[in-house]
Amino acid sequence: MIKLLTALVFAFTLSFPAAAFADSHEFEITGDAAAGEKSFRKCKACHQVGPEAKARVGPVLNGILGRAAGQADGFNYSKALLERAESDEGLIWTPETLDAFLTKPKDYLKGTKMSFAGVRKEDERANIIAYLATFTE
Ligand code: HEC
Repeated sequence: MIKLLTALVFAFTLSFPAAAFADSHEFEITGDAAAGEKSFRKCKACHQVGPEAKARVGPVLNGILGRAAGQADGFNYSKALLERAESDEGLIWTPETLDAFLTKPKDYLKGTKMSFAGVRKEDERANIIAYLATFTE
């Protein structure tokens, strides 16, 4: 299963066209951050970003691209998320893992306490990821 996932992530990465890079990250960001800001309204019930951001129902999402899961200050993560982050497989938030998680959080991370159905449209997820990439630590 892990091998299959790795292969899928690899294939997915290869299928992306060359595109702009996010500030200070080596990731290819294909979405539109301005559109992502609008879609981020779906996340705002629980998450904050920006210099004044505080943990609410969910953790602060500044600097999430490239970081291991479960690292935001002042947030009490679920056992499920922490166990995955500390497993051999690990969990680093890249555009690929964020895309998979945001598609259906509870499928990607069984037992997560993020009570959110997911973002069905691929381009909308890419836009949200592009928006998040603008918030470094
Ligand atoms: C109903 C509240 C809620 C909504 C809406 C929500 N989240 Fe979350 N989110 C959470 C919670 C709670 C966690 C912590 C999950 C855990 O510990 O299992 C979380 C975790 C995360 C994480 C992992 C953070 C880390 O530090 O590892 C990311 C990334 C994330 N959410 C992104 C989003 C995005 C993007 C949206 C909107 C598309 C969204 N969330 C919508 C509550 C929410």
